[in-house]
Parts: sequence; structure tokens; C-alpha cells
Amino acid sequence: MERLKDIGEDIRQLQNEAEELLASAKNEEEIEKIRVSFLGKKGKLTQIRKELPHLPPAQRPLIGRLLNEAQEKISQALATRRSLLRALSREKERVDVTLPGIRPSLGRKHPLTQVIDRIKEIFIGLGFEVVEGPEIETEYHNFIALNIPPEHPVRDEHDSFYITDDILLRTETSAVQIRVMESRKPPIRIIAPGRVFRRDQVDATHSHTFHQVEGLMVDKGITFSDLKGVLTLFSERMFGKDVRMRFRPDYFPFTEPSADASISCIICGGKGCRVCSYTGWLEILGCGMVHPQVLRNVGYDPSEWQGFAFGMGVERIAMLKFGINDIRLFLENDLRFLKQF
Ligand code: DAH
Repeated sequence: MERLKDIGEDIRQLQNEAEELLASAKNEEEIEKIRVSFLGKKGKLTQIRKELPHLPPAQRPLIGRLLNEAQEKISQALATRRSLLRALSREKERVDVTLPGIRPSLGRKHPLTQVIDRIKEIFIGLGFEVVEGPEIETEYHNFIALNIPPEHPVRDEHDSFYITDDILLRTETSAVQIRVMESRKPPIRIIAPGRVFRRDQVDATHSHTFHQVEGLMVDKGITFSDLKGVLTLFSERMFGKDVRMRFRPDYFPFTEPSADASISCIICGGKGCRVCSYTGWLEILGCGMVHPQVLRNVGYDPSEWQGFAFGMGVERIAMLKFGINDIRLFLENDLRFLKQF
């Protein structure tokens, strides 16, 4: 009887021991070790079971039952621990959709793109079409067709990056005028934004790479007042209704007559300040009536078709609109600068 009690006690203790070990088992391996050490072939409970045949027959059923119960409890504890550990590891992988996300850093449009977009919007509103031309141009399109023969002095100002003797990086978007007229019949109403290149010494107001928007309108009976009307509307929409526009005679080989157009200073309202060099005016573009020779160069009859053209510097307008004082900032890709717009 004494022996019976001892065995019963051993079984209970083994069960407790197994349950305690399982409670701190950290992974599947540890759980498996515990299973083997209690329920395996040489496990502690199995050892006791092996003794069953040597017990008095009357005691066997009771011990057998205790063994079965302990085995059952330990098996349950094994399974519980397993599923708990599994649940915990799933928890680690789980995505908590209620957590605030990592905000992706949003890009924005470059200030020059913003200005070009606005210019496009205004001219599209006036019935113009946006076209593009190549940045690598022939000497013919960049100069000769625009009435700038090889010995012409304006070529000095347009010193460029030549690829061969007659292929260069375009120095002005005016070349697109030629390409459009060569490929279409009038009426024409286009603007052509794009990059241009000059071998300029880089400083706060000069860059080897900058942007222009070219404009061209060709139709029957176009006069200088059409040019003034379109550009005045543009200036009102771009800079505001209070801004006045001034046209002064200028010279360009591909227009006759030619003018430079200025707006009343948007900083001081025309009173005179540092930005407008105390003149009250800011030059923003060159323009004029398309030279008859240019029309002839593309096969148009100047007695039938007339047109006006203009070209504006995008950097200049962006600098005025945003109060930027150094043209080099546009090309540096410095986020501290770009994030301000
Ligand atoms: N191409 C000129 C420049 O780069 C700007 C210009 C002046 C364009 C008069 C024109 C124009 O179309 O008519 O300085």
C-alpha cells in the first residue's frame, strides 16, 4: 500500500514538473525535449508504466489510471504551449493596420516646371498649341533660317556648344519656329518651351543651361497689335491685372520690327527698387513681327502670311515670381531650396 502511495505521488510530481517546465519552454525544440523526457520511450512516465506488470494485480488498475491521466494532462499542456508559442510568433508578424503609417516623402514640381506649366496654361487658354523641338539642332535651324548668317555679329552672344561644325546645342527655342513652319501650313499658333544652352560664364544671372518659351502666330493680316494684345493678356494672367506692359524697339535678326517687352516691376509696383535697377521696369521677353525673309526661308509667301513671335526666359520669370536671387540654384538639385516652392 505504501509503495502504491509513493508511485501515485511520483506520477503527480512528474506531471507538475512537466507542466512547470512547459510553462517556461520558449520554442518548439524545448517543448519537444520535454515531451521526450516524460512521454518518450525512455521517458519518466514511460519508466513507471514499465513497472506496472511488476505491481500487485490489485494495484495495477489504479496506477494505470493515474498514469493515463498524467499522460493526458501532459499531452494537453504540450499542445497548449505549442499553440501559445505559435500565436505569439504570429503576433510579431502581424501588421497593425491602426498604427500611423510611414509617410512617404512627396516630391513636388521644380519651380521652373511650375512656371512653364502656368505659361502653357495661359497660352492654351488663348488657343495656342504646345510643341517641342530638339535640343540638338542644326546650324541651319538655329541660325541660318532665322536670318543669322555665319558672319552675323549676334552669333557672338550665342556662342554655343558645338557637336560638329554644323550641329550644336540650340542657343534659343526660336529654332522650333522654323521646324514648325517647315512642317505645316498656316494658320499657326504655337508655343515651344524647352532648354537652351550657351557658353556663358556662370554667375548669379547667367547659366550654361536655361529655359525659354517661344511663341509663334502666323495667319493672314496679323499685325503688331495682335502681338501686343496677346502678350498683354499673358502678362495680366501671369503677373496680375495691375501690372503694366511696355514695348520698346529692339533688334532681332528674325523679326522686323522687333521689341523688348517689360512689365512694371512686380516688387515695387514701378516706383523703382533694387530688383528693377530703379527703373520701375523688368524686361521679360523679346518679340516682333516675323521677318519676311524667315517666312520665305520656310516657303511661305510674306505677302500672303504675316506673323508675330516672342521668346521669354523662364528662369527670369521664376526668379521674379518667387523672389530667387541666384540662377544657379535652379540646377543644383538642393532639396533645401526646392522644398520651398
Ligand atoms: N531668341 C531670342 C533670344 O534668345 C528671344 C526672342 C526674341 C525670340 C524675339 C523671338 C523673338 O521669337 O521674336 O534672345
